[in-house]
Amino acid sequence: MQNGKAITNVKQWENERRPELLSLFAEHVYGKSRPDGKKLPYKITSVNKNALGGTATRKEVTLYLSEDRSKTLNILIYLPNNTGKKPVPMFMGLNFAGNQAIHPDTGITITKNWTRFENQPGFVNGIAGEGSRGFYASRWAVELIISRGYGLATMYYGDLQADRKDIDSLPESFHAWYYKDKKIKAGDNPWGAIGIWAWGLSRALDYLEEDPDVDAKRVAVVGHSRLGKSALWAAAQDQRFAMAISNNSGEGGAAITRRKFGETIKIINTSFPHWFGARFKEYADKENDLPVDFHEMMALIAPRPLYVASASEDLWADPKGEYLSAYHAGPVFQLYGLKTFTNPQPPAIEQPIQAGIIGYHIRKGKHDITKYDWERYVDFADQQLKAVKPKK
Ligand code: GCU
Repeated sequence: MQNGKAITNVKQWENERRPELLSLFAEHVYGKSRPDGKKLPYKITSVNKNALGGTATRKEVTLYLSEDRSKTLNILIYLPNNTGKKPVPMFMGLNFAGNQAIHPDTGITITKNWTRFENQPGFVNGIAGEGSRGFYASRWAVELIISRGYGLATMYYGDLQADRKDIDSLPESFHAWYYKDKKIKAGDNPWGAIGIWAWGLSRALDYLEEDPDVDAKRVAVVGHSRLGKSALWAAAQDQRFAMAISNNSGEGGAAITRRKFGETIKIINTSFPHWFGARFKEYADKENDLPVDFHEMMALIAPRPLYVASASEDLWADPKGEYLSAYHAGPVFQLYGLKTFTNPQPPAIEQPIQAGIIGYHIRKGKHDITKYDWERYVDFADQQLKAVKPKK
């Protein structure tokens, strides 16, 4: 505890230290989230039972975020057709460039919201066109996920809050409509974009709880990089997520910030001042004053399965710091009688390791999420979420 009291059992952890850590992360890192009392209204806008060559059912669901329904979160869902038993376990994560970018499937609705991909192929001034379909298909192993009996739900993070520094000066800012709708004040330390993206993951999970084809008790939340930071913060706060996967989430995600290796608090708050709560900036060059470090966020996932992954050339995200965070979360998993990593040295490249319900690997190559990463996540989920085996 902050007062120096040692935590020696699960009850103390759950009743005292866990809530204390959650408020410390909110206060000093991400800004204060606003839990919502009721589920958002939604509409199923399309269902195609013959997607991906007949192997999957594709659904699109619109969640109405704002009361005037002008702000929406559009959930793209693929469900495997070849599984004997329903409901199915799921992977869920936010995407960077719109739902249409995760697969060339022409049935996916193209996002109308601004993206960061200014004039890259398929985008004009950040607005996605037909040519953006499948832009990030390499990051989503849709066929693998489906063939192994899992569903996938993904949403464009820019539906929630545009990823740009000037967002709070724009009328479409999340903060502009949210506090008005809720008739509350933002307060002195409102959530940054990561907190908002994490909130969106929980709202999408609210929907999955309503969907009879989905087993909402077996949803693994996954994210790459800034969306890995968001996935971790979502899973830390929302214990309905059955498992958390951090892919190259780095600073403000899995990496131990006190190592000051690669990206630091000062750098991240300079490049992305809109990601965190205001107080995180106070710790620029003062990492040791921060009352938390990120192994404590990994500990907030306990006793649920946690998988952390790094990439060998992704030094910016500090692979060793990402591993150490999984390692130092150990004492909390041990309170639950679970095994934890015993070696403070990370494993060799592409030698995945696992202790109890904690997994880790370092992939060869750059900052990315690839088929290699997904194969590990699906294998891990096979053990941890007990996937329904597809019918032969
Ligand atoms: C930048 C940023 C990282 C972030 C990454 C990403 O590199 O510095 O903190 O994780 O973008 O989201 O790809």
